[in-house]
Amino acid sequence: MTGSDSLEARGLTKTYDTGTVHTRALAGVDLTLSRGESLAVMGPSGSGKTTLLHVLAGILAPTSGEVRWRGRDLSGLSERERTRLRRSEFGFVFQSGQLLPELPADENAALPLLLAGTSRAEATARAREWLGRLGLSGMESRRPGELSGGQAQRVAIARALASDPGVIFADEPTGALDRQTGWDMMRLLTAAASEQGAALVVVTHDAEVARWCSRTVHMRDGVIAREARQMPSPPPTALGSTVSTGAGPATPGRAPFLPPAYDPMAVSR
Ligand SMILES: Nc1ncnc2c1ncn2[C@@H]1O[C@H](COP(=O)(O)OP(=O)(O)O)[C@@H](O)[C@H]1O
Ligand SMILES: [Mg+2]
Repeated sequence: MTGSDSLEARGLTKTYDTGTVHTRALAGVDLTLSRGESLAVMGPSGSGKTTLLHVLAGILAPTSGEVRWRGRDLSGLSERERTRLRRSEFGFVFQSGQLLPELPADENAALPLLLAGTSRAEATARAREWLGRLGLSGMESRRPGELSGGQAQRVAIARALASDPGVIFADEPTGALDRQTGWDMMRLLTAAASEQGAALVVVTHDAEVARWCSRTVHMRDGVIAREARQMPSPPPTALGSTVSTGAGPATPGRAPFLPPAYDPMAVSR
């Protein structure tokens, strides 16, 4: 790990101005995220979690303060450079509705690579490799409508990881899933991020999910009200997993936290 591999935010504020209404969504946030760290962002609705994610990822410009990725100030980049950086060095997983319905799973997962200029052959190969690791072998040609919610989210994870990003941003990625499917997905996401050495920033309302991360920040009224560092506890064994991998459901009480058939950490690179 090198210091320059970090994402650093200093004095971030963000005010939304809509007509006469000014909403202070961020009111002074300092945060340093190093390679390999996983950060859970918690807090009530409206506390600024999504805004923080978007500012950290260079999607939104802060009103004041700065964000540095690998030592570079994002605001010093042109819009074009920022877009390129988002496509090649950051990965995103959102709540739902993020896959293009008319594209098959492999093309959905390959999209950021294609947009970043990777050849179609290489982008598809990398997308397919990730789909396989996440237990979706044989489903590469299915469109999102032909996948379950959990499977579609795994396509979204494959898409976030295929570009080998330095940071993965996930905004309530399990929000549209039932709890068990959400946990299965978070297990894959945290394991895959840590295997890749990527930092992970995940907005979650689930304290259980936060325990799998190495840090938690609690947002309130646009500031970090509380912060904790913890030894990430391994996600619990699936209690009758709903993940359909062709490997059969996970057996209750089974020890490894991912069945070997789709454990991304078990795959040698
Ligand atoms: N595009 C926007 N325009 C105006 N106000 C916004 C916009 N996005 C968010 N806000 C406001 O900023 C505050 C923080 O929102 P948000 O970052 O979405 O919080 P959270 O993700 O924690 O629910 C809220 O008061 C919200 O209404
Ligand atoms: Mg939000």
